[in-house]
Amino acid sequence: MAANIQAPKGTRDILPKDSGAWQLVEDIMRDEASVHGFEEIRTPVFERTELFERSVGDTTDVVQKEMYTFLDKGNRSISLRPEGTAGVVRAVLEHALMNDGAPQKLYYLIPCYRYENTQEGRQREFHQFGCEAFGAAAPVADAALIALAHSIFERLGIRNLSLEINSIGCPKCRGEYHAALKAFLEASKGELCGTCLTRLEKNPMRILDCKTPSCGEITQNAPVMKDYLCSECAEHFTAVQEYLDAAEIAYTVNPRIVRGLDYYTRTVFEFISNDLGAQSTVCGGGRYDGLVKQMGGAQTPALGFAMGMERLLLVMQAQNITLPRPPVCELYIAPLGRQAQVKAFAFTNLLHQAGIKAECDLCDRSLKAQMKYADKIGAVFTMVLGDEELKQNCAELKHMQTGEKTSISLGEGFLTEFVAVATQTEDNAAMGLDGLTVDFEGFEIFEKED
Ligand code: HAM
Repeated sequence: MAANIQAPKGTRDILPKDSGAWQLVEDIMRDEASVHGFEEIRTPVFERTELFERSVGDTTDVVQKEMYTFLDKGNRSISLRPEGTAGVVRAVLEHALMNDGAPQKLYYLIPCYRYENTQEGRQREFHQFGCEAFGAAAPVADAALIALAHSIFERLGIRNLSLEINSIGCPKCRGEYHAALKAFLEASKGELCGTCLTRLEKNPMRILDCKTPSCGEITQNAPVMKDYLCSECAEHFTAVQEYLDAAEIAYTVNPRIVRGLDYYTRTVFEFISNDLGAQSTVCGGGRYDGLVKQMGGAQTPALGFAMGMERLLLVMQAQNITLPRPPVCELYIAPLGRQAQVKAFAFTNLLHQAGIKAECDLCDRSLKAQMKYADKIGAVFTMVLGDEELKQNCAELKHMQTGEKTSISLGEGFLTEFVAVATQTEDNAAMGLDGLTVDFEGFEIFEKED
């Protein structure tokens, strides 16, 4: 027999038992982004390869080694997006979004693709929540973006994240620094790893980020960008720190944060967790004041960040953070017999129209099996519909946890009576029934009440 096909290496199915947590985290991200005045942008999963070569940088690991690149049937080189910024920049230019005024504040929740060696927290398909702001040059914008990421972590209840910031200057001051760094590293050239040898020529700063122990040792006493910043970049960096201090956001200046993508200028930052193994960066970002122009637009200061959803959820798991999960079923209706089945279906439909999570039997099960199922899905209430109930035109609503039973009319009052009982229980907040008003006039399933 042929072996079952499995998901490709480095990808993961998000199963129903986990998707609730994903949705809650995503809801918090969307809400917080909108509180900060960001609007969602959705761009294609694939773009022309050139877009990433020209923005992320053709000497970066991401572009050189990790992109999923292929020729499409029209012989165009296409790549799955390894990150979100490049596509957003392209879209901002293509649709002239800056004509609507600055700043343009955009967020996205997207799958990304990098052909990496997989390990915990490092996948080939992963998900990013990212925010990008265009047209904001002032240092307060850097602090505002950091504050947005920070408040998401706060709302999620994540503890012990350290925020590390650095400035990697602008092309003006970076030239002098590169020369100094290169001169320093030339002395130990023989001990650099193969990758860093090529970096030495094209992008020596990236060597500071190398995880190979010998490279780490060599760069220990290397010159740092901080000491080479031009006066404008230095002032900008000082001001960013003042704003962070004012917002009481704790941070450390780490001169070794250089980021792995080419487009950054000035402020760069990372949120790091000790609860993750080697892949400790939960969120990374910074300024990229030159990128829009480099991609063919007008000079436009810009900045942003992205956080990895999988890493975030791993930290939450490690810190035993559980988010309140709304029940999947608020009322399970268990019918007995054909007539009751029709009625149960009609009631379920009515409840759905009022936004109430309701289910009835879809598998022709016995009452015992139905109750077992209701228990398994965590139904808050159950209601049995048999001949007797139909005859009496009323049934019993059973609260599954307390066992409390309430008689409920099967006539016109059904929906309001159900909402009244449900809102009296502790579960009402979780069920989202607070203040729920329902309009059920005109439904034909009710028997007329005398
Ligand atoms: P990045 O540091 O390459 O930056 O990725 C951002 C975050 O995505 C990382 O901190 C990590 O949490 C997550 N991540 C990256 N690669 C993987 C992977 N293979 N598996 C799981 N999670 C991963 C960027 O992508 C920039 N576009 C961020 C940015 C936005 N800068 C300015 N604007």
